[in-house]
Amino acid sequence: MTLQGRELILGVGGGISAYKSADLLRRLQDVGFVVSVMPTRASLNFVGAATWEALSGQPVAVNLWNKVHEVPHIKAARSAHVMVIAPATADLIAKIANGICDDLLTNTISASSTPIILVPAMHPEMWGNPSTVENVAKLRSRGHLVIEPDEGRMTGDDFGVGRYPEVSRIISEISSFLELKSDFQGKKVLITAGGTREAIDAVRYIGNISSGKQGYSLAKAARNRGAEVVLISANTNLSPIAGVRTIDVTSTSEMRAALATEFASCDALFMAAAVADARPKTNNEGKIKKADLKSIELELNPDLIAEISTLAKTSQVLIAFAAETGDLDLAAAKAKLVQKGAQLLYLNNVSKGAIFGSDRTSGFIIDGNSLQIECPDQNKDTLSDLLLDQVRVKLG
Ligand code: CTP
Repeated sequence: MTLQGRELILGVGGGISAYKSADLLRRLQDVGFVVSVMPTRASLNFVGAATWEALSGQPVAVNLWNKVHEVPHIKAARSAHVMVIAPATADLIAKIANGICDDLLTNTISASSTPIILVPAMHPEMWGNPSTVENVAKLRSRGHLVIEPDEGRMTGDDFGVGRYPEVSRIISEISSFLELKSDFQGKKVLITAGGTREAIDAVRYIGNISSGKQGYSLAKAARNRGAEVVLISANTNLSPIAGVRTIDVTSTSEMRAALATEFASCDALFMAAAVADARPKTNNEGKIKKADLKSIELELNPDLIAEISTLAKTSQVLIAFAAETGDLDLAAAKAKLVQKGAQLLYLNNVSKGAIFGSDRTSGFIIDGNSLQIECPDQNKDTLSDLLLDQVRVKLG
């Protein structure tokens, strides 16, 4: 199963173990999920919405009848890539198995085509009840994952199978069920995207046509693989990515300042932004009259990646991008990689308007040794994962 993203809905059922889902939420975030919580009304008796809002950093909806014009259950069902129901009570399991939709959570589950993972927790008698046994079998036969509860002490003094499983086991069962690649867990990935702009006067600038799509695609892919991601974004029209900290910048000097703050703590830097190579020597605060716009004196911007690579630790991996028109010169690209102090470089052919602004790309990934991977025409998301694979190798 290949997940397209890691937006996850955590449905919380009305059981005493609902508080254990607070820890589960945290661990799901650690493996790169962006979690929104959908508690049932009954569960709010155990853990209130404020706790879920604070832990998830997202608003919490409970009522199907709020914001009806937005059709919230359909919107939620479409935005989620996976749903985890924890604790799944006997009542919730019965409702889901039988298609009953009587609140926001069960309506959302019914409208969703994503994988559903259930974490049952209930008294042994309820877990062993023939209805529950039948409902669990039904859910499993439909391809959903129903995790086996633990054996142990219940609330009160009874003992048996039905305890909320250890959170580490839940995470490992979810990871293998979804075949999650979490190889960037614990790593910080810094990415620049878009194109910087240099003011000529109050209304004009020098800029470039970079859309930021490759950088945003990298940010999403790194997040999906468990990385903490910081995106320095220059002048794109792209929507923010949930779970990614974005720093908006306009000019090269702003990008330079953001890099200076974030670089030391990152494990990998993708310099995907098209940095304006030069800026006007004098910055006019007003608007220049067109009669005076015959020439603009420029000065070179610093090469941001070359500059910051001199401060890099040997454990950090820097990835440069190069755009060429015409035949791709791999020897020149390797010289560029060395000159910029990068460990990897993606060389792409942008002839005839290709790649800039497109969802597709083609080129070569090279390193300072003999690595040379040809990347024929492909989606930028595919390239992002290929680049991350190579970075993972360099990180060791
Ligand atoms: N870069 C940078 N600072 C600059 C210019 C570029 O950090 N002032 C980075 C870009 O983010 C990118 C790489 O360096 O990762 C691109 O290098 P560049 O020398 O601009 O290569 P090309 O785009 O191929 O340009 P040229 O044709 O001038 O070689």
